Amino acid sequence: MNARLSPRMAVIGASPTAEISNKLRALALAGADVINLGEGELDFATPGHICDAGIEAIRAGDTKYTAVAGTAALKAAIIRKFERENGLHYPPSGIIAGTGAKQLIFNAFLATLDEGDEVIIPAPYWVSYPDMVRLAGAKPVIVPCTPEDGWKLTANALAAALKPRTRWVVLNSPNNPTGAVYTAEELAALGKVLDGHDALVMADDIYEHIVHDGSFAAPATAMPGLFDRILTINGVSKGYSMTGWRLGYAGGPDWLIGAMEVLQSQSTSNPSTISQAAAIAALDGDMSFLDGWKSKLIARRGKVLEAVASMPGLSAISTPGAFYVFADCTGLYGAVTSQGTKLETDLGVTGYLLDDAHVGMVHGSAFGMPGHLRIAYAIDDDRLAEALSRISGALAKLEIHH
Ligand SMILES: Cc1ncc(COP(=O)(O)O)c(C=O)c1O
Repeated sequence: MNARLSPRMAVIGASPTAEISNKLRALALAGADVINLGEGELDFATPGHICDAGIEAIRAGDTKYTAVAGTAALKAAIIRKFERENGLHYPPSGIIAGTGAKQLIFNAFLATLDEGDEVIIPAPYWVSYPDMVRLAGAKPVIVPCTPEDGWKLTANALAAALKPRTRWVVLNSPNNPTGAVYTAEELAALGKVLDGHDALVMADDIYEHIVHDGSFAAPATAMPGLFDRILTINGVSKGYSMTGWRLGYAGGPDWLIGAMEVLQSQSTSNPSTISQAAAIAALDGDMSFLDGWKSKLIARRGKVLEAVASMPGLSAISTPGAFYVFADCTGLYGAVTSQGTKLETDLGVTGYLLDDAHVGMVHGSAFGMPGHLRIAYAIDDDRLAEALSRISGALAKLEIHH
């Protein structure tokens, strides 16, 4: 047996969020009552009219290969969505659908990056960007953001990070893991900095519909002068609670979309026909279900922030979007568990809470921001309350020396 792997595998690791979920599953299999606050998906069911469209597609025999970038009907629905919600106009050749937003981001990087290229990624960031950039042979340039700036990239920080070899700037609003949402003015200020440079912009708008306060602004709308070099990434995973359907889409310049399609034609081909049909129903359908979802999420965010404020050693700012609270846990460093272990890192804190409270969360280092933990409040109200009370109980058991 020759188990030699490609050197490519040495530059990446397994997704930390998936790893936490695996650990939790193992604990649950062993009989523990575990609560997962680590998963980036809503607990709500996919709305019925969307499921019906998927079932209808199966019954109608919509079960064969389609065009790699998606059916003409799906592309038309995506074009309508961009026009209606974002005031953006794309021809069909500027649109591609794929197996989740993740695949489209991956394809875009792979299609454009070369050895020596740099990609600016504001931190904290979605866990997959840096590894995808490294896989494509390029260098992630991490630019830390602060809670004082609402966890957002400032024009000054962007200007300082831009270099001749910068190929992409990644913007993710609403943001995973912080819930930060950029205003149109903030995006316009970043756009001004980019005016003098030819970097591409990856606008990851996947959480567009999960904004609790204020409104969503798409980078491609707020930076009209850069439209020709913005790739807008979106999908049905978050806003329609369809993570398992694996359907994402992108709008961008023809040359880039065309290259992403060539890559996809040699890997996965078209996204599932069933998911394509369901996505049309999602994009064209009534969205009033979102109001109920959002009021639940707002209430949960309030509960989490209140609990965090009451726990010694934890603190967090309130952010307007997504379904995450990103809490500082450095106040717990130095505390000692009843087992005699000293907590010295964010991984130590999440590990302790997993062992003692059977509550899973992702440590900030995974998002490029050590000293924090991400609390996903996308779970049932009662379970969330139970998780918060368990965390509080576990922290109360610590011996804290200051
Ligand atoms: C910021 C961000 N972008 C992209 C994705 C991928 O979404 P999809 O399920 O459509 O692949 C996620 C999923 O967690 C995400 O958080």
